[in-house]
Amino acid sequence: MEGIERLSTPRMVAERLTEADYADVRRMHLYPQIMKTLSVDGQPLPDHVTKEGLIQNEAHWRRHGFGLWIFRDRQTRQFLGRAGLQSYSIEGQETVGLVYAVIHDHWNRGLATEMAAASLDIGFRELRLPEVASWTLPDNLASRRVMEKLGFRYDTDIVFAGLPNRLYRLTAIDWELGRGC
Ligand SMILES: CC(C)(COP(=O)(O)OP(=O)(O)OC[C@H]1O[C@@H](n2cnc3c(N)ncnc32)[C@H](O)[C@@H]1OP(=O)(O)O)[C@@H](O)C(=O)NCCC(=O)NCCS
Repeated sequence: MEGIERLSTPRMVAERLTEADYADVRRMHLYPQIMKTLSVDGQPLPDHVTKEGLIQNEAHWRRHGFGLWIFRDRQTRQFLGRAGLQSYSIEGQETVGLVYAVIHDHWNRGLATEMAAASLDIGFRELRLPEVASWTLPDNLASRRVMEKLGFRYDTDIVFAGLPNRLYRLTAIDWELGRGC
């Protein structure tokens, strides 16, 4: 899957997230504002959990041929966040989920939506996935808005990692229709 390891968006470049990105991801995982809605207990992540997550992401890429990308500013190469597609078991069903997180200094600039759109283009156009799901805590209004902007539709409430979440779905057909092509 060499062809999908790097991608670019109007404002960003991205490449397959690896253990070499530890310093940037660690910094993100220590911001309370970001982890409030990202970690299971709403707290910054201990370093060993960040390390383990990066190892799991590499294993995911090897196993499924896709995973997370690290996104950087196109001009300055500043770290802006990470996003991508991950395979999960949701209520017994193998489900590909869209995930995203942006450094808080850059929130509300449309970057999560841009990262997610690039990830979905890969998912639907290269990987030929029929559907991608995404879920979030009910009070994560920014994340819900990102999903709505991308065309996701609310499906059902689930329990994920022991927490109530709203699950949304987007089909390949709706994605292509929404892209106007
Ligand atoms: C959720 C997150 C990824 C959004 O990133 P972002 O780059 O700010 O997202 P975008 O700018 O693309 O879109 C955010 C939208 O939410 C809206 N929004 C932000 N805060 C909001 C709030 N409290 N209530 C309602 N809408 C809100 C913004 O106005 C924007 O919508 P608009 O373009 O119609 O104005 C970012 O807040 C984040 O990284 N949070 C921590 C990690 C996380 O929760 N990840 C998602 C896990 S499901």
